[in-house]
Amino acid sequence: KGLTRFENEPFADFTQETVRRAFVDALAVVRTQLGKEYPLVIGGQEVRTADTLQSVNPANPNEVIGTICQASTKEIDLAIEAAKKAAPAWKALSPEERAGYLLKAAEIARTEIFTLCAWQTLEVGKQYDQAQADVAEAIDFMEYYAREMIRFGKPQRMGRAPGEMSQLMYQPKGIAAVIAPWNFPLAISCGMSSAAIVAGNPVLYKPAGPSSVVGFTLSEIFRKAGLPAGVFNYVPGRGSVMGDYLVEHPDVALIAFTGSMEVGHRIINKASVVHPGQKQIKKVIAELGGKNAIIIDDDADLDEAIREVLHSAFAFQGQKCSACSRVIVVEPIYAKFIERLVEGAKSLAIGPAEDPTYFMGPVVDDKAQQNVLKYIGIATSEGKLLYSSPVPDSGYYAPLTIVEGITPEHRIAQEEVFGPVLAVMKVKNFDQAIEWANSTRYSLTGAVFSRSPKHLEKAREQFNVGNLYLNRGSTGALVERHPFGGFNMSGIGSKAGGPDYLLQFMDPRLVCENT
Ligand code: SER
Repeated sequence: KGLTRFENEPFADFTQETVRRAFVDALAVVRTQLGKEYPLVIGGQEVRTADTLQSVNPANPNEVIGTICQASTKEIDLAIEAAKKAAPAWKALSPEERAGYLLKAAEIARTEIFTLCAWQTLEVGKQYDQAQADVAEAIDFMEYYAREMIRFGKPQRMGRAPGEMSQLMYQPKGIAAVIAPWNFPLAISCGMSSAAIVAGNPVLYKPAGPSSVVGFTLSEIFRKAGLPAGVFNYVPGRGSVMGDYLVEHPDVALIAFTGSMEVGHRIINKASVVHPGQKQIKKVIAELGGKNAIIIDDDADLDEAIREVLHSAFAFQGQKCSACSRVIVVEPIYAKFIERLVEGAKSLAIGPAEDPTYFMGPVVDDKAQQNVLKYIGIATSEGKLLYSSPVPDSGYYAPLTIVEGITPEHRIAQEEVFGPVLAVMKVKNFDQAIEWANSTRYSLTGAVFSRSPKHLEKAREQFNVGNLYLNRGSTGALVERHPFGGFNMSGIGSKAGGPDYLLQFMDPRLVCENT
């Protein structure tokens, strides 16, 4: 009652001076709070550990964002106990009551939006618009899953046999481990966690190391929303110390993971082994990588195509699973396209994300920087360098890189880089473009720029990815409008922000009464 239809949180208009100013002010406030120590939050209590991890500003690694306590297996046990204790009362609440907490949390995030953004700008190098889109998406997930839970919360009458009342209903699976990435540090953390919570599952949340302070902001949002103790437990820690332990724990019923294919495979493998005391088969939801292609047809609108390819490939430094890392161009338009692509790329300046004159910022940390530089080496040995941008001297920067002469056999056409490296592939015709687009193990996003209805139809039928975009870029899926997720090596599980997502967090039950 009284709940309006879901609507996406609007994007902020940074052309407005007042909006830019609000962001700058929030950055200044957040700067006064840098360098604090962050405890774990288990059963509503702060828990400190001797082992800590420093999170730094990737644009200026001397600037410490926070020092984060690190869970060992002992703290995971404590958090499991807290979750177990919280579980019965949380499950017993009505779907509407649980949804109410998410709506409250969404309202808190809305009020604090620029502060939440500013933490991301400083901790992971998100530009203003990228950070705001992330927080808006987090709000969307909470608003959407709250409504979805109310929808699923009503028992559904099955069949029409006289003398029989047969009802299908859903119940929570149990304790959920949420293992989150740093690239959408609030949105994806919040999406996976809020789905688990609203469906009735207490959560052990492990943020990614480089975005642990943003992860703490999520914990704060839920605390301020009044979530009962033990329903959401903030347990940052080193994967090497507690990752397997968390996944293998007999009391963990469900693992929601977003991250690399390699870690995803490891989790699926570990979760398949039944341990003593384990009562359920573990469910794994895994959103993994992509090697996403954009196809440029010979009649493409190049003004749009260039803008969208650059944005899809290089916004937030290409560190999105949805990012375009291959652009497949048909021969007749090839020369014109790459000339304009490189021209466009040259106009994209690189520097700290907190200065809005820069389009691109640093990659997330030194490991990411080394990895991107390694792949730039591979790409330039396999193909021909078209453009490599200048980068600032200090900070974890990697150059915006475009390489041509790439074919499906090349490693740069197959392996996910997760950085600002774009492989250009030249094809004879549209049929070959589709064939090459489909030539990887991944099936996450893809896009086509064409004005030919026949070609768009062919792409619709044959371009085999989870999210296919026609005449727009490959990133920026919105909750409800573009349910997001892939298949093949891009993951298992149903689309985030879509109508099947919550079902993965629940077990269906059928109760049939002979009346
Ligand atoms: N949902 C994001 C996008 O579409 C990726 O995680 O860009």
